[in-house]
Amino acid sequence: MYNKLYPKIIDALVKDGYIVLEDAFSESLCSALLSMAQDESAYKRAGISGADKVHLDNNRRRDKIRWLEGGTKVEGEFLAFTKELQEHLNRELFLGLSYYEAHFARYDEGDFYEKHLDAFKNSKNRVVTTVYYLNKHWGKEDGGELVVYDENDTFVTKVSPKANTLVVFLSEKFPHEVLASRKKRYSIAGWFRVDKF
Ligand code: OGA
Ligand code: MN
Repeated sequence: MYNKLYPKIIDALVKDGYIVLEDAFSESLCSALLSMAQDESAYKRAGISGADKVHLDNNRRRDKIRWLEGGTKVEGEFLAFTKELQEHLNRELFLGLSYYEAHFARYDEGDFYEKHLDAFKNSKNRVVTTVYYLNKHWGKEDGGELVVYDENDTFVTKVSPKANTLVVFLSEKFPHEVLASRKKRYSIAGWFRVDKF
């Protein structure tokens, strides 16, 4: 189903390389995704990708993740949005995206993610990043902001992880970090890729 965010996202990616959209989807979709995220049974500690292996690194990231599999109506609704976004990005920006992967992420109190790039160096893979936040009643004192930098490591923007905020950026251009969260923080991080492993 056509969504009016598609042209906005495309224009912003061309002009600035990133966009922050508040009130991106319906309240009901956001709440339903939050309920899924709050089912804590299936989370695993997230790894850091090394040259040839994935290992846990407590000092760099502390979040716990759960991959979306599209098995529920709610996940399906979110993935329908990203599927069509992928088509628009390919049609209008010729990005040749072939695949989208996404996971729920939970940051417990004190959790953070050090500054990093989502694209792995020297292999063209993650091209466009999406981060969608699910946290109701999030205040300044709760921390957990996403801080985005540019290619020269100059500050670009700071985003509060408030419910129904969607951030989209070019994976290869923007180093970013998650500041320590002061309470449980839920999000869905996703990536459009040009390969499928
Ligand atoms: C990531 C990431 C940002 C966020 O998972 O790679 O940078 O705000 N997440 O959750
Ligand atoms: Mn990231």
